[in-house]
Amino acid sequence: MSVTYQIEPGGVLKGRIRVPGDKSLSHRAIMLGSIAQGVTRITGFLEGEDAIATLNAFRALGVSIEGPTRGNVTVHGVGLRGLKAPGRALDCGNAGTAMRLLAGLLAGQSFDCELTGDESLRQRPMERVAEPLNRMGARIETGKGGRPPLKIHGARKLAGIRYDMPVASAQVKSALLLAGLYAEGRTCVTEPAPTRDHTERMLQAFGCAVEKNGNTVCVRGGAKLTATAIEVPADISSAAFLMAGASIAPGSDITLEHVGINPTRTGAIEILRLMGADLQVLNERAAGGEPVADIRVRGSTLRGVEVPRELAALAIDEFPALFIVAANAKGTTVVTGAEELRVKESDRIQVMADGLQALGLQAAPTRDGMRITGGPYRGGVVDSHGDHRVAMAFAMAALRASAAVTVSDCANVATSFPGFVELARSAGLKISLV
Ligand code: S3P
Repeated sequence: MSVTYQIEPGGVLKGRIRVPGDKSLSHRAIMLGSIAQGVTRITGFLEGEDAIATLNAFRALGVSIEGPTRGNVTVHGVGLRGLKAPGRALDCGNAGTAMRLLAGLLAGQSFDCELTGDESLRQRPMERVAEPLNRMGARIETGKGGRPPLKIHGARKLAGIRYDMPVASAQVKSALLLAGLYAEGRTCVTEPAPTRDHTERMLQAFGCAVEKNGNTVCVRGGAKLTATAIEVPADISSAAFLMAGASIAPGSDITLEHVGINPTRTGAIEILRLMGADLQVLNERAAGGEPVADIRVRGSTLRGVEVPRELAALAIDEFPALFIVAANAKGTTVVTGAEELRVKESDRIQVMADGLQALGLQAAPTRDGMRITGGPYRGGVVDSHGDHRVAMAFAMAALRASAAVTVSDCANVATSFPGFVELARSAGLKISLV
């Protein structure tokens, strides 16, 4: 189904809004709840296609799961050894997190399994998980060029390894930690830069010991997971679009409620502040092992900055939104150290640069980032290449365009932000479907 957004120019964003649940946490809650003993109750679950793909995969693996109904999901855990052969390939849809984490978790099962996905996912690199998992004793075959589908052979004896990750990837780290639950001895992963630590936190919430030493994290095989309640906060990566929109549109004043502000996810807040955004983190509290807060953003005058490289991994999913902020800042913004953007749901460096240029902006893609000079821009047609975050970023760009912006190929917004159009419209964005 083809979905096109038409956004009239101008407007401001106002109000109090709760965006849908965190995608990373929703995937993990289903996975850990499934291999725990007992009944896990999840609230705030993301009812988006990505998290639903994980939910359906675990149903196919023999887990009884109720919901989702208004964000509530009940998972009847089967224990570490209780999953069953699915009898068909598991379809991860658009979700890289589902495929990579499942690869780790399924590497230690007694049965064979195949993982596949949509056209975008079938282009994404999987060798980064297959290679270290095979080093642990797994047998995972990738398709051509190290891409999906993944054929995972069961009944392998896994042994813990020490792995120095060549890329800063929470998905690779998580895949190895999940396989580590099924391995003999300790599995330790060292990361070159901090990445989101939701797997580590949630394993601990399920009663599994996780050792952390500097940039190395270890688990031991055979640990027992005990069911627990998981409260999923609103996704900061979805909130980022409204944060960006409010920042660029003078007169905006929006409060995003109950947003997860895990410090491994808040690079965008730091970058926005460096750019002069008027952003307040209010009412900080804890929810299920994760920090949350309300975030108030008002329109302000923005400046171009050199984004510190060390923030790249901490803001990796927010760059599409941040590029739009850069287009509305005075001066030039330079992003480096973000080469991972090239292997996301689309090549986000190229696709974002093409879109910015289509609106008449100066945007120069580089190997690992982009150089964007802010300035007035026109309306036009932008192809999101089926990338949910590109689509939502350009929808926000219309707030400051001189004419309407049309964004094509937007169906995948439903993977991470169901109800985006209605929510953004209620906040003041002049968006409609054509
Ligand atoms: C995710 C990790 C990140 C992120 C993705 C979700 C996760 O990917 O971009 O949207 O839930 O672990 P990488 O680990 O590949 O950087």
